[in-house]
Amino acid sequence: MKAVVFEQSGGPEVLRLAEVPAPTPGEHELLIDVHATALNRADLLQRRGLYPPPPGASALLGLECSGVVVQVGPGVTRAAVGDRVMALLAGGGYAERVVVHEGIALPVPERLSLEDAAAVPEAFLTASEALLVEAELRAGQSVLVTAAGSGVGSAAIQIAKLRGAFVIGSASAPKLSAVRALGADLALDREREDFVEALRAATSGRGVDAIVDFVGGSALPRHQSCLAERGRLVAIGLLGGATGALDLGRLLMKRQQVRGLVMRTRSTLEKLELVERFRRELLPAVADGRLAPRLDQIFPLSAVVAAHERMEQNQSLGKIVLRVKE
Ligand SMILES: NC(=O)c1ccc[n+]([C@@H]2O[C@H](COP(=O)([O-])OP(=O)(O)OC[C@H]3O[C@@H](n4cnc5c(N)ncnc54)[C@H](OP(=O)(O)O)[C@@H]3O)[C@@H](O)[C@H]2O)c1
Repeated sequence: MKAVVFEQSGGPEVLRLAEVPAPTPGEHELLIDVHATALNRADLLQRRGLYPPPPGASALLGLECSGVVVQVGPGVTRAAVGDRVMALLAGGGYAERVVVHEGIALPVPERLSLEDAAAVPEAFLTASEALLVEAELRAGQSVLVTAAGSGVGSAAIQIAKLRGAFVIGSASAPKLSAVRALGADLALDREREDFVEALRAATSGRGVDAIVDFVGGSALPRHQSCLAERGRLVAIGLLGGATGALDLGRLLMKRQQVRGLVMRTRSTLEKLELVERFRRELLPAVADGRLAPRLDQIFPLSAVVAAHERMEQNQSLGKIVLRVKE
């Protein structure tokens, strides 16, 4: 099968198409004929040699895909040949074929094309875990979604809004109108000097109940200043660095919490549980259009270098999709 490979880690230019052996489905696994996959920030790190795949995972890039089931392994009961599915992967999405556990594959709602569907799993599953499990966001509460124009951020805004939260998104200035269009009640320029004051003014001086934090290090003091009493900051990304100063006095007095979230290295059992939760609680909203992936651009697999360059230069707004099947 055709797949994107790289012999040496480095910039986008190291990526190229090659023929590699196709996987075969084991017990409870589906073989998917991949129609599309989508980029994730982690792909850039893996390409640079900074984020190796977890043990047992495909060494190929690609943390999600959509496609059609072409073969089922022994014991499969939840899907059949011909089904349109979308799935979270620990790797292997940048290829014509991939295998996944039957419980991790979700049915593609009728209204979504397979290109749309490829943009759903990583963004929406990560955002729903962050907001609903780690941040314990409830209706009427407020949340700050940082890097709100990112793939995961664009999903987080929609899920938080659907849950009845007051949503503030922060991003670079060119992305603010799109952040509002995604449903944010307020969009804040992340370069704004009076960022904290503007956020406090919008929350009657309290600060926000939850923060979905993709930035970390450099912005940690500022984000902690935005957090209300008993607020939860969920660390998901390290765009601004892995270390930062936390004011423990403030944390203690305001009874704030900081939690970490990672998706890729979770066990199959944990992934089955989170996918099941999503299937039950949010997939119906994807099916009827209340939640929709925000696509940036679709590139053919052969243009993977240009797609990586676009993400690396922070030009994308929402998800970059790679069309695998022409
Ligand atoms: N923990 C997990 O399991 C998990 C899962 C999925 C994703 N993630 C993380 O979530 C983040 C978003 O991923 P993605 O694939 O959705 O990313 P993406 O679509 O590439 O979007 C990232 C955006 O973040 C903004 N940004 C870049 N550097 C920044 C900085 N230093 N400070 C503030 N904003 C910055 C840029 O937008 P602006 O133009 O607004 O600056 C950029 O376009 C990444 O950090 C990724 O590693 C984590």
